[in-house]
Amino acid sequence: MNTHHHSRAGRGTHGNRWNPKADGDLLGSVEINPVFARPEEATSFPKFRFPTSQILPETAYQIVHDEAMLDGNARLNLATFVGTWMDDYANRLYMEAADKNMIDKDEYPKTAQIEARCWTMLADLWHADDPGKAIGTSTIGSSEAAMLGGLALKRRWQHSRSAAGLSTDHPNLVMSSAVQVCWEKFCNYFDVEPRYVPISEEHKVLDGHDLARYVDENTIGVVAILGVTYTGMYEPVAQISHALDAIEASTGLDVKIHVDGASGAMIAPFIQPNLEWDFRVPRVVSINTSGHKYGLVYPGLGWAVWRSVEDLPRDLVFNVSYLGGEMPTFALNFSRPGAQVLLQYYMFLRLGFDGYRRVQEDAHNVALFLSSHIADMDDFTLWNNGSDIPVFAWMLTPRADRAWSLYDLQDRLRMKGWLVPAYPMPANLQDITVQRIVVRNGFSHDLADSFLEDMHDAVDYLNSLTAPMPSESRASGFHH
Ligand SMILES: Cc1ncc(COP(=O)(O)O)c(C=O)c1O
Repeated sequence: MNTHHHSRAGRGTHGNRWNPKADGDLLGSVEINPVFARPEEATSFPKFRFPTSQILPETAYQIVHDEAMLDGNARLNLATFVGTWMDDYANRLYMEAADKNMIDKDEYPKTAQIEARCWTMLADLWHADDPGKAIGTSTIGSSEAAMLGGLALKRRWQHSRSAAGLSTDHPNLVMSSAVQVCWEKFCNYFDVEPRYVPISEEHKVLDGHDLARYVDENTIGVVAILGVTYTGMYEPVAQISHALDAIEASTGLDVKIHVDGASGAMIAPFIQPNLEWDFRVPRVVSINTSGHKYGLVYPGLGWAVWRSVEDLPRDLVFNVSYLGGEMPTFALNFSRPGAQVLLQYYMFLRLGFDGYRRVQEDAHNVALFLSSHIADMDDFTLWNNGSDIPVFAWMLTPRADRAWSLYDLQDRLRMKGWLVPAYPMPANLQDITVQRIVVRNGFSHDLADSFLEDMHDAVDYLNSLTAPMPSESRASGFHH
C-alpha cells in the first residue's frame, strides 16, 4: 500500500479509519489535493540548508502558509501599534503596486509626486507656517524617520559649533528614559551621548522638570514623545519648550525639539486639535510619525517632516533628477516599497480629516471603555486611562496573598488568542510591571466586550489558585 494514500486515510470524508473500498477516491484525492501527498515530492524540507532542487509553487506556498498559520492572530494582537486591517480597495491597490520601488523616481514619477503630496499634507496637518516651504520624506518606519530627525539636529549643531570655532566632539541628545529603542539606536549608531531624564511616579513623562541639569552647549536637541511607547501618554511639548525658553534666557542656548509622534502625530490632530504639540510650537523643527500605526497603513511606512528647508542641512540631502527637475532625497535606505506610500495617499483621500477623526475617536472610545472596566476590577490600578493616544497600561493593586503576576495573566489571555504584553517599566521604575493594550482600528466594541469576558475569566481562574487546590487538580499540575 502506498503510504501517501494511507496518510490521507484518516482525514477525508470517510471518518477516522482508512476504508479500502474508497481507494479509488483516495487516489483521486491525491490528484485533487496533491499538496500534502504528491508522488515524487519530498514531504519534508531542509530548514537550514539551501534546498537542492525545485518544488512546485503550490507545495512551496502551502509550506510557507502553514508555518505562518502558527503565528498569533494579528487582529487579536493588542501589543502592536501597527496596522493589521485595510479595506478591499486598499488591498487591491497593494497588489497592483507591490512591484514599485520607492527609490525609482525616474520610473515612477507619479509615486514620487504622491509621496511629496503626502508629506506636504502632513506638514499642513501639523500646522507648518508654510507647508510649501516644509520638506519631508517617507521612510520604512518611525525608526528610520527618527534617525533622520536626529541626524539633522546633529549636523545643524555641528555647523553652528564649527562656525563659532567650538568643539564638535561630544554631542548629546536629551530625552526621557522611556524613549523607544530607536533613539537609543540613533545615539549608539551615530555617536551621540544619550542623556536620559528618568521618569518617576511624580513625573510620569518628560515634562521639562529639571531640564536645565541635562541641557548644555553640546545638546543637539530634545526629543519629545507624543505617545510614549510604554504607556501611550503624551509628553507636554509646549511645556518642554517653555523650559527650554527659560534655559535660553539664562544661558543663551537655543535648543530645538524633535517630536517623536510615531503614534500621536496621527491622533492628536484629529481628536485633540487644541493641544499644541506640533509646528505651532516654535522650537519644534521636525516631526516623525508611522504611516503604519495610526496612519492606518500596513507595516513598512514612516514619515519625517521638517518645518522648513532651513532646518534640514543641505549637505545631508542628495539630489535625484527626474522629470527634468531635481528631487532632494534624504533617507538611509535606497530601495524600499512604494506601495505603502500609495496606500497612505489612498487613506488620506478616502477618509479625509473627518474620516480619520471618526476612526481615531472610535479607538479612543474603546480604550476609555476598556480602561474604566479594568480600573473597576479589584486587582488592577491604572497607570493611565488611554485619554491621550488610545493606549493604556495598568499595574497589579498590591495584595499580600496574590499568587499570580501580570505575566501569568498574559499567558492565560494568550490561551484565548489575545496578545497583551506585560513588561517592566524603564530605568528608575523597573520594579513596576505593567500590562498594556493598544486599541487600533478594527478593535471594535464587540471585540472589546469579548476581551473583557476573557479577562474576567482569566482573573477569576488565577484568583481561584490562591485557595488550596483539591488533590486531583494538583496532580494534573498547574505550575508557574
Ligand atoms: C514613540 C515611538 N517611537 C518610535 C517607534 C518606532 O517606530 P517604527 O516601528 O515605525 O520604526 C515606536 C514604535 O512603537 C514608538 O512607539
